[in-house]
Amino acid sequence: MKKWCYFLLLLTAIASCKKNVDSTCTDDIGLYHSYEFPVGVSLEPSELDANDRYRNIAAKQFNSITPENCFKAVSLHPQEGVFDWSQSEILIEFCKQNNKRIHGHTLIWHEQLPEWIKNYQGSRADWENLMKNHIQTIVKHFKGKVTGWDVVNEAFYEDGTLRNTIWHQKIGDSYIEKAFVYAQEADPDAKLFYNDFSLEWNPVKRNAVLSLLNNLRLRGVKVNGIGLQMHISTVYPDPSQVAEALNACAAADYLIHLSEIDVSVNPLNKSDFSLTEKLLKKQAEKMTAVIGLYKQLSQKYQYGITFWGVSDNHSWIRSYFNRNDYPLLYDDNYMIKPIYCSLKL
Ligand code: G3I
Repeated sequence: MKKWCYFLLLLTAIASCKKNVDSTCTDDIGLYHSYEFPVGVSLEPSELDANDRYRNIAAKQFNSITPENCFKAVSLHPQEGVFDWSQSEILIEFCKQNNKRIHGHTLIWHEQLPEWIKNYQGSRADWENLMKNHIQTIVKHFKGKVTGWDVVNEAFYEDGTLRNTIWHQKIGDSYIEKAFVYAQEADPDAKLFYNDFSLEWNPVKRNAVLSLLNNLRLRGVKVNGIGLQMHISTVYPDPSQVAEALNACAAADYLIHLSEIDVSVNPLNKSDFSLTEKLLKKQAEKMTAVIGLYKQLSQKYQYGITFWGVSDNHSWIRSYFNRNDYPLLYDDNYMIKPIYCSLKL
C-alpha cells in the first residue's frame, strides 16, 4: 500500500475515535474548574486501587467524592459490634491526597443491609439503640473528614406514603426524625441531607418529602438539604419539571445536591438498541438544560452536583437493569463524550 494510503487510514482512525466530540473540547482542564459549586463523582475503592485511568480522571476532573457503596451499612457494619473501615480508608486517603470534599452516602437505607440487621430481633427501644449506635459510630469516625451526609435515603414511595422499610416496621414513623437527631448529635457541623429518586419530576412524592422535612425543622431538628438523585434520561424528565423541583426546594430553603446524576440513552431497554450520534447529542442537550437550571439557583442553595460513576462501564444501570446503556461522561475507553463537553465552559 502506498504511504499516503496509510496516512489516510490513520487520519480516518483518529477521526473515528474523536467522533461525536467537538474538536475544541478536551479534558485537559478539570471539569470542576468551570463551576463555582463542587462537581463530584461517585467512586469505588477497588477501582481507585486497581485502575490508573479511573483514578486519574477522578483526581483531575472532580472536587467532590461520594462513596458509591463503601459507606453503606453492609460494608461498614458487617456484623453486630464490628465496624470495618478498610475500604472506606482507601477512599478517604485518596480524597486527602487530592484535596476532595467527601459526601457521605448513606446512613439509613433499606438496601445493602448486612444479614445481622435484617435478622435482628429486639424491641422498638432495641432497634432505636441499634440505629443510634450505627449512625453515631460512623458519623463520629468520619467527623472532620465528611462534609455532609445522606442521613436517610429513599424513604418514600412514588405516591407520597412512607416506604415499608425495616426501619419503619421496627421503629415507626419517627425513625426519620430520630436518624437526623442522632446524626446531628454525632457531628453538629455536618450538613444533613434527605436523598431520594424521582423528586425531580414527581411533585406528589416531592411535596410529601418537603412536608416531612419542614415538619422536622419546625420541631427543631436540623435538616440542611435535599438530594435529588437525577437518574434521568434523554426522554424524561422535561426540563420544566426539573425547574419546578429546584424552585420548590430552594423556596423551602434547602441546600440542593444533584446527588447521583446519570442520563440514560436507552431508558426503555430496547433489545435492538444501538448508540447513535443523535442520541449522544440528545444526552448532551439534556445535560445542558439541567446544568443551566442549576446554575440559575442562588449560590446559597448550590451544594453541588455529583455524577454516579466515572465512565459508562462503571454505571450501575448496566448490571442492575441488565441494559445496554451509556449514561455517564466518559465512554468505556475513558474517552470524553459530548455530554462531558456540554458541561465545559
Ligand atoms: O461487593 C460485592 C461483591 O463482593 C460480590 O462479589 C458482587 C456479586 O454480585 O456484588 C458486590 O456488591 C455489589 C455492589 O454494588 C458493589 O459493586 C452488589 O451486588 C450490587 O447490588 C451493588 O449495587 C449498587 C446498588 O446501589 C445497590 O442497590 C450499585 O453499585 C450502586 O450504584 C447503587 O447506588 C444506588 C444508591 O446507593 C442509592 N440510589 C440509587 C442508586 C442506584 O441503584
